[in-house]
Amino acid sequence: MKVNDVTTYEEDGRVAVVTVDSPPVNALSNAVRQGIAAAVEKAMADDAVGAVVLICEGRTFFAGADITEFGKPQVEPSLRNLQKIVENATKPIVAAIHGTALGGGLELALVAHYRVAVPSAKCGLPEVKLGLLPGAGGTQRLPRVVGVQKALEMVTSGNPISAREALSMGLLDALAEEGGLRAAAVAFANKVLDEGLPLLKVRDRTEKLEEARANPGIFDEFRKANARQFRGFLAPEYNIRCIETAVSDLPFEDALVRERALFDELMKDSQSAAQRHVFFAERQAAKVDDISADTPTLPIAKVGVIGAGTMGGGIAMNFLNVGIPVTIVETAQAGLDRGLGIIRSNYETTAKKGRLKPEDVETRMGLLTGSLDLGDLADCDLVIEAVFEQIDVKTDVFARLDAVAKPGAILATNTSYLDVDEIAAATKRPESVLGLHFFSPANVMKLLEIVRTKDTAPEVVATAVKLSKTIGKIGVTVGNGFGFVGNRILAARNTQADALILEGATPQDVDRVLYDFGFPMGHFQMRDLVGLDVGWDRNKTSSSTVREILNEMGRHGQKSKAGYYDYDENRKQTPSPVAAKVIEDFAVRQGIARRAVSDDEIRDRILYAMVNEGARILDEGIAARSSDVDIVWITGYGWPRYRGGPMFWADLEGPAKVLETLNALRAAHGDDFTPSPLIERLAAEGKAFKDA
Ligand code: 3HC
Ligand code: NAI
Repeated sequence: MKVNDVTTYEEDGRVAVVTVDSPPVNALSNAVRQGIAAAVEKAMADDAVGAVVLICEGRTFFAGADITEFGKPQVEPSLRNLQKIVENATKPIVAAIHGTALGGGLELALVAHYRVAVPSAKCGLPEVKLGLLPGAGGTQRLPRVVGVQKALEMVTSGNPISAREALSMGLLDALAEEGGLRAAAVAFANKVLDEGLPLLKVRDRTEKLEEARANPGIFDEFRKANARQFRGFLAPEYNIRCIETAVSDLPFEDALVRERALFDELMKDSQSAAQRHVFFAERQAAKVDDISADTPTLPIAKVGVIGAGTMGGGIAMNFLNVGIPVTIVETAQAGLDRGLGIIRSNYETTAKKGRLKPEDVETRMGLLTGSLDLGDLADCDLVIEAVFEQIDVKTDVFARLDAVAKPGAILATNTSYLDVDEIAAATKRPESVLGLHFFSPANVMKLLEIVRTKDTAPEVVATAVKLSKTIGKIGVTVGNGFGFVGNRILAARNTQADALILEGATPQDVDRVLYDFGFPMGHFQMRDLVGLDVGWDRNKTSSSTVREILNEMGRHGQKSKAGYYDYDENRKQTPSPVAAKVIEDFAVRQGIARRAVSDDEIRDRILYAMVNEGARILDEGIAARSSDVDIVWITGYGWPRYRGGPMFWADLEGPAKVLETLNALRAAHGDDFTPSPLIERLAAEGKAFKDA
């Protein structure tokens, strides 16, 4: 029988089976919690029922609290009150898990008396990824079943563990056969009844806390070992404190109160708001407004890559990793051998680190074919060009590719800045052409800018969006314009960073401010890492910028042990007196008076210039929504997740303040800071970018 819209109740002999069906992920919404509470109460009241199985329909067990209900009024029972009903039930309750038992979902399973799962299931507490901690006893119960070290790892990484690992640790009591979960859970409940097994409560178990009680240093060791990863984030530290509380002598109920207080603090903080924004923004990015979800996609069974350089090799690896064969084409054997060699050595390094099985290296390399003939791409469903960043080279490649590629094949360019319409015009099938802009290293970075031109067909865009998921990327669909979204905002940052060092800041000053803001590295450190000579032409260089001069001196960045910084044998950087002199002399030649530049000025000029450029991009329709701009900068350029992206950050500052600051910067530093019309409009209407 139906208990409510999302919950059904059936009796299977002595066992009441409570089934929740609330797509897409059975989040613990108001309706779900009410349904479970009513069903459990019914089972307790029925003398014919001896035990309860709690199970979900659809793709997964409860994936957590319903994030969309955060901040809205709580309807009873709260998750914690529901947990009390389950934990204190007078008849055994068995949680039957498939898919992912996450967050509040796992916390609910942890108050059941027993847990059964299929082998493909996963269990985890991912709240840290939302800037939170498990606020329903997860930090108190998890260490009691998996031990303190493992619990610390799970709550601070947010990564789930497999059912087999969960079974070996005692988080699960039994595994069921795939497809046979309900029957296995009912059989388990009958066994509990037959054998008179007790109503086990995780909260009563303390044996797995003893090791940490004997070694309280474990927490600081853990903090130290992960300091780099946790830098800037509040939530990992709060999660650790909760687990410290679990091993303290605070009574269990008081520990729950403390956990809740820390949860509430995080919930109110802008970091969690930012991280929740990013969660939804990532999912939103997969939706393209004018392309419906049922747009047909083209099958991609074989991929071609043109150019086996820095990008081509990394791009190829994405497809090999998911079992899609790749043919990679170069102009000369030496370049091809070098490119293939680098791909192999990348895989071998991963295997040496234990992150890939040695046989998988061979399987992946077995899917890769090298060639010097574009004609070998005739049977590819998708070809991605990654040759030199020169328009005549690209148009020549596309004209020749058009002549050999099969009808309907998608032809993509990995260009960083060039006009994709112009590249498409070199073919007779502009509807099949788009940009697929990967980020370096292309096998690692999550971002894929999908650049649609005025002619790109909807099914070609839909295929690219789907493909990005297949290869584990976050695809953001953008319009065609100089630098698309990411590099155009980077160009705005470049302009300010270059000006700041001429006016008196040092590269280290600029880098420190960005690092302290939360970027993994500073602006000039990033340039040195990528290579100052990327895009530099030794035949055309004319000492017209500091960067050109450094290149002319052979200072190409880390690879030549000299750039804006000096580097030693171990790539350790130190401020460079040589670069400092180059900068000072150049400023003198340009007639720029050097002065003290404050950290606040560095921060404002760089960040507001980026926000202003982001606003122009939105105004021009190059990005569809402000959250897409945020995702590009978080996943492609290291904008700190806990600051939600440049446009989210600007929304926190507020449109009026953004406008006021831009006007002040314009008065002091010129028209680079002329506020975009969108910012003027938002400030006038009191709206935020997220509503634009
Ligand atoms: N609440 C509300 N909606 C959710 C949700 C949640 N917890 N989890 C996922 N969704 C929504 C997504 O927004 C998406 O909606 P859309 O289709 O409208 O875009 C839909 O469910 C499907 O999600 P995915 O596209 O991510 O589907 P996948 O199959 O790739 O992944 C998943 C499924 C592994 C469950 C993934 O969605 C996920 O990791 N969800 C978040 C889980 C989580 O963080 N749980 C903890 C919540 S906080 C909590 O529990 C606090 C507690 O301690 C008190
Ligand atoms: P690269 O110089 O490392 O590699 C280019 C390769 O293309 C060389 O191996 C060259 O021999 C080959 N090539 C040139 N003409 C060819 C042709 N006609 N047929 C087949 N192969 C040919 O350059 P990189 O860095 O890989 O850049 C490639 C493209 O990717 C450029 O458009 C660049 O703007 C873009 N890009 C580069 C990024 C980076 O960080 N390096 C990031 C994102 C995009």
